[in-house]
Amino acid sequence: MPRYRSVLRSQFSIRLQAPPRIQFGSLALRARHPIRMKRIIPVSSGKGGVGKTTFATNFALSLSRHGKTVLVDLDTGTSAIRHAIDTPVTRDLYHFFRKGEPLANCVTQIDSKLDPDGSYRNFGFVAGPLHLIDEITNFGPQHKSHLIDAVNALDANYVVLDMRAGLDSTVIDFLPVSNSGILVFTPHLPSATLAASDIVKAILFRKLRLIFGKNSPFYETVDGRLDFFRLTNELIDRVEDVYDSSMKNLDEFANDLHSSLGDHPITRTVQATLDSFRVHFVLNLFHGVEESYQTAIRPFIENLTGNVSSHCGITNLGWVTKSDAIHKANCRSVPALLALDAEKRKPKDRIAQELEDLRVTAIGLEPAKKKPHSTTRERSGDPGDHLTAQLETLSTMFEQRRTDDYRANFEYIAQRALFTMKTRRSNEFGDTRIYRPGEMLDAIFAKSAHP
Ligand SMILES: Nc1ncnc2c1ncn2[C@@H]1O[C@H](COP(=O)(O)OP(=O)(O)OP(=O)(O)O)[C@@H](O)[C@H]1O
Ligand SMILES: [Mg+2]
Repeated sequence: MPRYRSVLRSQFSIRLQAPPRIQFGSLALRARHPIRMKRIIPVSSGKGGVGKTTFATNFALSLSRHGKTVLVDLDTGTSAIRHAIDTPVTRDLYHFFRKGEPLANCVTQIDSKLDPDGSYRNFGFVAGPLHLIDEITNFGPQHKSHLIDAVNALDANYVVLDMRAGLDSTVIDFLPVSNSGILVFTPHLPSATLAASDIVKAILFRKLRLIFGKNSPFYETVDGRLDFFRLTNELIDRVEDVYDSSMKNLDEFANDLHSSLGDHPITRTVQATLDSFRVHFVLNLFHGVEESYQTAIRPFIENLTGNVSSHCGITNLGWVTKSDAIHKANCRSVPALLALDAEKRKPKDRIAQELEDLRVTAIGLEPAKKKPHSTTRERSGDPGDHLTAQLETLSTMFEQRRTDDYRANFEYIAQRALFTMKTRRSNEFGDTRIYRPGEMLDAIFAKSAHP
């Protein structure tokens, strides 16, 4: 028996109290704001070069056909978005940070030479600074907080964040509390696939550390606050440490807690955190089902279920084919969707589009969970189920979409994203705001006073 179990048993009296009501995110906020709110979708990858910027730009353009969309360049060291869209930029994040310009004044519309018929007039982007400026590239807590507030205040239906590669706090703090945003990975860069699952790990651990942090309201419901704090955090450290093989993932952590404590607030809270977490991904540089499954999806699922948890929901939003035309368009600083000729850029017939949407958008989306499972015993979380479901999803998508060109790829992903936002709670995908680090605890326990 692990040492901590006997310690837990002997040291703590467990008060029989209702567990804290963890509403996971913005339910309460939603009730207060029945009108449609802005949805924020970070695009990240863990590792560089998988096509984040390419995807984020064209995805945002596709979304803009459905509502006002702003793409924000958070890879502030590379000016990636500025280079991806050949349009004069008069104000960017430099003006926001250094000159005190409101972020709304730093949104650039695309030049009419790229969009002569105005099909993408609902699209705008916030460019990173022209050159590397350390305080903007590696902004500290104050800049971060200022930018988060400004993004939250942007007047838009959709905000897409193009994140930098890597996992530092400038990336993690812009990611949602209860879902992964959109992770991009590709069969062509297996290490990036593993890095994508590390993002999920980082978000989940950040959340657990907040829930079991010193100031968490969680401890209001259990006796032995300090001891529980010490023990839970020691255990979280052990699971997070990949060199410590005594507890390989969060499912083992949850199961061990269950065997030691039974149906206890800590057990339920850990399980609810895992059950309610949602992962959404897109495959870039797609080149067939078999290759994508074997070299991207399978390692992703295996890494996620093996090292993090098999209890999270995992949704494939679609793929973008490997295409010379996309790469050539990028080299000319024209987003691939804007490189198409006028005929191809026209929206599809509305009724045909709606029938199509109904047919395709729900594939592989897990049924919404009304209530997280209360104990580990109620749900097996078999990693094999995830693999089977993902292969089925990919095969079904491929059967229906094998002849799609890249424009159809981006439209399809946008449709699935919109469908997911329509049918799920905002905390499952497309959160309504980015929480400042200091607000996250409130957001998790849904006691936030912030709108
Ligand atoms: N679907 C695609 N087909 C062909 N080439 C692509 C595709 N997607 C991206 N590329 C090419 O891959 C390279 C990397 O793309 P991109 O800059 O979008 O990646 P990134 O993940 O944003 O990189 P970074 O981490 O450096 O920000 C570029 O040369 C781009 O043209
Ligand atoms: Mg990029």
